[in-house]
Amino acid sequence: MSQNYLGPYKSFRDYLDALEHFGLIEHIDSINQDEYEATALMYRIIDNTKVYEAPALFFDEIRSKGKLFKHSLVGNIYGRWDFESLALGIMPIEGSPQKNYKHALNKITDHIKDNNEWRVIDPIEIQPSEASCKEVKLLGDDIDLLNFPFIQTNPEDGGCYINMGSVILKDPDLGRNIGTYRCQIKNSKKISINPQVNQDGWKFLKRMQERGEKRAAVAIVLGTDPITFSMSGSKVAKYGEDELGIAGGIIGEAIKVVKCETNDILVPANVEMVIEGSIPLDRMEEEGPFGEMYGYIGEKKEENFYMDVSAITHRNNPIFSNQFTGITRGCLTAPIEVALNQKYKKKFNDFLGLHYPLETPGFCFVNIASVSFEKAMAIGSDISKSLKIAKITVLLDSDVDIHNLHDVLHAVGSRWQPYTSSEIIEKAPGLSGDPSSTERGIGSRIVINAMKNGRQSDLEFAKTNRECLENAFPEIFDRIDSKFKDLI
Ligand SMILES: Cc1cc2nc3c(=O)[nH]c(=O)nc-3n(C[C@H](O)[C@H](O)[C@H](O)COP(=O)(O)O)c2cc1C
Repeated sequence: MSQNYLGPYKSFRDYLDALEHFGLIEHIDSINQDEYEATALMYRIIDNTKVYEAPALFFDEIRSKGKLFKHSLVGNIYGRWDFESLALGIMPIEGSPQKNYKHALNKITDHIKDNNEWRVIDPIEIQPSEASCKEVKLLGDDIDLLNFPFIQTNPEDGGCYINMGSVILKDPDLGRNIGTYRCQIKNSKKISINPQVNQDGWKFLKRMQERGEKRAAVAIVLGTDPITFSMSGSKVAKYGEDELGIAGGIIGEAIKVVKCETNDILVPANVEMVIEGSIPLDRMEEEGPFGEMYGYIGEKKEENFYMDVSAITHRNNPIFSNQFTGITRGCLTAPIEVALNQKYKKKFNDFLGLHYPLETPGFCFVNIASVSFEKAMAIGSDISKSLKIAKITVLLDSDVDIHNLHDVLHAVGSRWQPYTSSEIIEKAPGLSGDPSSTERGIGSRIVINAMKNGRQSDLEFAKTNRECLENAFPEIFDRIDSKFKDLI
């Protein structure tokens, strides 16, 4: 396998070429999304593998809304944990998704370890003539969003969506904001844009409204390199920090940007497509419903921001992507996990690391050093109240692998006493898509202390059978590994 295909990738195309090279893409000649074949196939692939082991799917042509699109559409491009290591320049070990993900986490941790800050390389502006996202320019009557395969993923969705785009806004004081929000295609020149309340993008638009502005310039970019997309889909860049600068820092090279045709927003120059326009700040429109990340259909929104499209530019033969939300993982998560680890390590000496499994949203698994029950619960309670996805926070000893669901469930089943070792929090901010919530964006939480000393008892905790074996024969597993190499 060639090292040349390792990341960090400078573009979406380079990334797809690498997935192809490593045999991580399955090609499907033709699929009929008018009968939801692509969605059902994605469910089947994930049913038969694990979310983090499933290949990416590449549909060479797709039928949607009665049209046959010759443009390619890809799905599950950020699903596998192996993709995380590839994108950071590490050769994945075959058959070891957890290890590959941990290698990605270590690489990102090393990247920020000097001063605990994300390194920033500011983007550089290039001329439009050098920008591949401008190979084709559509203005005026030539603009028609319905000419591209933005698909409807679920029969009960409100329509077709762009759900793998990055929405770029600009504020005179705060600079640029890039966020991934689902965008519903309303007609050939109108798109609904859905930053939830209090997202940075939402705050940017509210600031403009408060200043009395009538419209906000906006660009949606499709098909960024994987690291930029991870920054767009996460809070690694804090309010007012530039996602592109941090992405450049991780990639090790400045991201090239170019000015839009119809406003002065700068966008990554080598993306597949740029949709430019403006958002009216004095009007809103209904949006949805949409099959959300929890795997359930969300509510229709009565009031949502939308944009009027003023230009589309794209590469020749652009490649589109669809998330298949609620079925596949949405972006690379190693940088996000490291950013959260950094945040909670700063706050609590005894916090060792966390993981929230996207295949079962709502859980957060936390490794904690061996500390008193009270200290562990204080950490769990803080995470539970400050991290919206952590509805069920499970505290675990350092010997439990938080990236291994089986290990975690085994620890909960064997080390946790529900009555003495839990805390229920009545109300805390939650994710708006949680179908169990009784009030949008608010919900109750539970902290489960599944640590050996979490049951608050003077009784000594039993040794594991495996521990006894290793105590008696410290070299046993090394011996078995070398003696039965072929079998193992
Ligand atoms: C594929 C994908 C789809 C997402 N869809 C939405 C969405 O529709 N609305 C939303 O508020 N956040 C959504 N998110 C989460 C945001 O992208 C994330 O919270 C990000 O921090 C928002 O950017 P901002 O903090 O700059 O506003 C999505 C994330 C991913 C990876």
